[in-house]
Amino acid sequence: MADLEKDIAKILITREQLAARIAELGAQISREYAGKDLLLVCVLKGGILFLSDLVRAIRIPHEFDFMAISSYGGARTVSSGVVRIVMDLNTNIENRNVLIVEDIIDTGHTLTYMIGNLRTRKPASLKICTLLNKPSRREIEVPVDYVGFDIPNEFVVGYGLDYNEIYRNLPFVGVLKEELYTRVEEQEHSAS
Ligand code: IMP
Ligand code: MG
Repeated sequence: MADLEKDIAKILITREQLAARIAELGAQISREYAGKDLLLVCVLKGGILFLSDLVRAIRIPHEFDFMAISSYGGARTVSSGVVRIVMDLNTNIENRNVLIVEDIIDTGHTLTYMIGNLRTRKPASLKICTLLNKPSRREIEVPVDYVGFDIPNEFVVGYGLDYNEIYRNLPFVGVLKEELYTRVEEQEHSAS
């Protein structure tokens, strides 16, 4: 892990902090959905590590399924708001209690698209659980029901979050050294 860790400016959330908060979220979800049918919808790929720990902290019967979406245009550390489903659910969510499991809410564009899309399928309820939330970056208001951590406006990687598909396996959430992405994006910018 040492060679990936050298790219991290600082650790924002340790693995112990992640575990403790996810245990709390699991307990809260278990209480609030007790006696109800529950379907977690994990947004790939970023949500996968969070989902796998969260489901083990949930004490009630439930199902989970996956959806993969992709954003296009714009620099790699900035959300474009242009979103497309690249892999859809296997489950019919009509009349189910759906809880979306996301890695991070930044501008809110991705989740707004997801909510709009899933609502047309008539779930009994639709709520949102995100590990990380960057409230200062919001461009569209989204109703978030469960938040692991509010974080400042910094580009973070690890625990599912990537830069250019790398760093997802880091067991903590850390701030990526800025010099690792600014140069690439300046080049992309001047090329367009
Ligand atoms: P939004 O549409 O701006 O809310 O962005 C949501 C998506 O952008 C997330 O699901 C991530 O894939 C990506 N993203 C936003 N901020 C970060 C970050 O700090 N690190 C890694 N990915 C991020
Ligand atoms: Mg990403």
